[in-house]
Amino acid sequence: MKHKEESIWGLFLVPIGKLIEWKTIMIDTYEDYQHINRLGWAQGVSKGWKATSTFGTKELQHSKDLLDPNNWIPWEKVKSVLCLASGGGQQGPLFASLGYNVTVVDFSPEQLAQDQQVADEHGFKIELIESDILDLSLLYGRHFDLVYQPLSAHHVPDVRHVYREVVKVLSPNGYYFVSHWNPIFFQLPLSDESVQWDGKAYRLVRAQKSGELVHCKWETDNGDKIAICHFIHTLSDLIGGLCDLGFVIHHFDEPKGGNRCADPESLEHIASFFPLTFNIFCSKPQTWMK
Ligand SMILES: C[S@@+](CC[C@H](N)C(=O)[O-])C[C@H]1O[C@@H](n2cnc3c(N)ncnc32)[C@H](O)[C@@H]1O
Repeated sequence: MKHKEESIWGLFLVPIGKLIEWKTIMIDTYEDYQHINRLGWAQGVSKGWKATSTFGTKELQHSKDLLDPNNWIPWEKVKSVLCLASGGGQQGPLFASLGYNVTVVDFSPEQLAQDQQVADEHGFKIELIESDILDLSLLYGRHFDLVYQPLSAHHVPDVRHVYREVVKVLSPNGYYFVSHWNPIFFQLPLSDESVQWDGKAYRLVRAQKSGELVHCKWETDNGDKIAICHFIHTLSDLIGGLCDLGFVIHHFDEPKGGNRCADPESLEHIASFFPLTFNIFCSKPQTWMK
């Protein structure tokens, strides 16, 4: 399946025989970015990134607060939950601990295995489905009361496509909770491109254009090289895309935070200039006109 007429070039980690090397490759199909990102997440799990660290008893005692800090979800109206791109043993187990029927979709088998591990440890039943969020056809014909999507749409080239898939599996009057990175964050230079902070201000080195590939690669403290494709999405697509499809937006919030005294270029410091993320809570009308 072609994503764009023109191809996007980038420098990525790719497997060459048994070795993994930096190589310039062309991203012109969904399969290409999928391959790179799945590899990246597998590496993330083996290295124990935060997004791959499972929740335990401590977090499971505060499930509602962690999932819904602003009290947006009408919990009594929800029975079935679809956690989208939420592998890692976090959101799925939190919902399961509250007694909900939970399905987790993620395209990383390693991330899904983390959910299975937490489910086994705590006696939860969680349905795990390995799939790309751009293709929820395995779920067509089923309808969930709540679709819950943590930060993840920046991993796919087309956020409106994700929204169209969500509509298909959401019950009439069903709710959609989605968190997004602020697109400005991806306009900053990457660490290998140039400095972000010039001593007085942050510098933006790329335009805010939907589908713009940010080839994020970095080196961990022990020298491991990691690459995962990120894509910029404009606010028109991230927020307007929901409105255009007929979703009703009930709540919107930009988590506060940030500290001007923190180390420049740290997330805390950047967050004192603009919100790093935002959350949207919306619903699909009973009568779907689109
Ligand atoms: C930042 S993590 C978010 C979930 C994690 N539980 C957390 O709270 O940090 C992003 C997740 O999205 C998944 N993912 C990335 N691209 C995906 C895609 N195209 N389809 C399905 N899952 C995807 C990754 O495997 C990863 O588990």
